[in-house]
Amino acid sequence: MADRTPLHEEAARGLLDARDRTERLTDLDTAELTAQHSPLMSPLVWDLAHIGQQEDLWLLRGGDSRAQGRLSADVERLYDAFEHPRATRVSLPLLGAPEARRYLGDVRGQVLEGLDATAVTDGRELFAFAMVAQHEQQHVETMTATHQLRVGEPLLGAGAPLPPGRALPPDDAVLVPAGPFTLGVDGADEPWSLDNERPAHTVDVAAFRIGRVPVTNAEWQRFVEAGGYDDPHHWSERGWAHRVEAGLERPLFWSADGSRRRFGIVEEVPPDEPVQHVCFFEAEAYAAWAGARLPTEVEWEKACAWDPEAPDGRGGHGARRRWPWGAAAPTSAHANLGGDALRPAPVGAYPAGASAYGVEQTIGDVWEWTTSDITPWPGFAPMLYADYSAPFFGGDYKVLRGGSWAVGAPSLRPSFRNWDHPVRRQIFSGLRLAWDV
Ligand SMILES: [Fe+2]
Repeated sequence: MADRTPLHEEAARGLLDARDRTERLTDLDTAELTAQHSPLMSPLVWDLAHIGQQEDLWLLRGGDSRAQGRLSADVERLYDAFEHPRATRVSLPLLGAPEARRYLGDVRGQVLEGLDATAVTDGRELFAFAMVAQHEQQHVETMTATHQLRVGEPLLGAGAPLPPGRALPPDDAVLVPAGPFTLGVDGADEPWSLDNERPAHTVDVAAFRIGRVPVTNAEWQRFVEAGGYDDPHHWSERGWAHRVEAGLERPLFWSADGSRRRFGIVEEVPPDEPVQHVCFFEAEAYAAWAGARLPTEVEWEKACAWDPEAPDGRGGHGARRRWPWGAAAPTSAHANLGGDALRPAPVGAYPAGASAYGVEQTIGDVWEWTTSDITPWPGFAPMLYADYSAPFFGGDYKVLRGGSWAVGAPSLRPSFRNWDHPVRRQIFSGLRLAWDV
């Protein structure tokens, strides 16, 4: 047994936190677990066993899929996300829920023993444990989206209380002056960062303004009422074609009567909450209607993480903060994370979470669409799970930043990059405006 270090504790906490959330979202009867609630999503029982299969593969077999795992090769293949599209997984001979739970428990027991036995120098030795915990957290968010798509009586309640918002001027924005900053991170500073966040490198960014907070439901409602969905002038050519084909009229889960459906509860749309469940094309059209644009992911990261006044260690100024507000790990005073709220917090709820430039609610609440395609940073090197990022570079995706209320804090950083197809809106996606200067 190796000496337990704070990094061991952190890696173990990441695994346990993810598992706790998985169990809460799958503590359901067999019918709920095996149903396909939407063609966009897997049955929950697939996610459940897939979480164990990935943990088995990366942590017990070092990623060697030819090595014998706890499942037969035929069964294991059912959980290959690349082989089976989500819409087809319901028809596979999947493990039942009791078998899947037993499998997860067996794998986890062995993994925790392995974690304890791993000697640590700089944390690199524990990266795979953190990577697997983040994978599970990502599936927790996907399973949360499945719950949101599910039609029926509420299963999760109304959500935990959130801090109140505060009134802000319309289009409240901050200026980010022109200049270089450090984009991305290195393993030495962020040992759990994933391959596409690395390496840290300097980029020069022109001056821009960016919204202090994300766009709210009330603001989006004005776009709807102004006929924003009916005027092709605000939409890109591709966006308009999609709007017509998909019949988009308002965010997903909103009704024409001003209500929305949230985890089985029908309620009035709260005006001061960041809008969510809009696709990239809608976000782009809204921004054009509002006389603004979406930020690039580089602008977003600078506004979130750069502190122009901090000493750079070489006698000058300018350094990254670990979190927008500083070095302290996120608490409920900084950000709405972890999934318990089941909704974004009202804008202005987290003044203590402001970045050096004064932008708020970058972390948590809603994923924010950017104009950027997912591309490798210069010097990109794939991690152990080599197909995590690389197969997606250059595909039809847009980057989303900041993490939603459903993201677990252990799997998030200001450098974290999410991506999805520009038509997706079952995800917890919203937007923040930006302006040229
Ligand atoms: Fe996965």
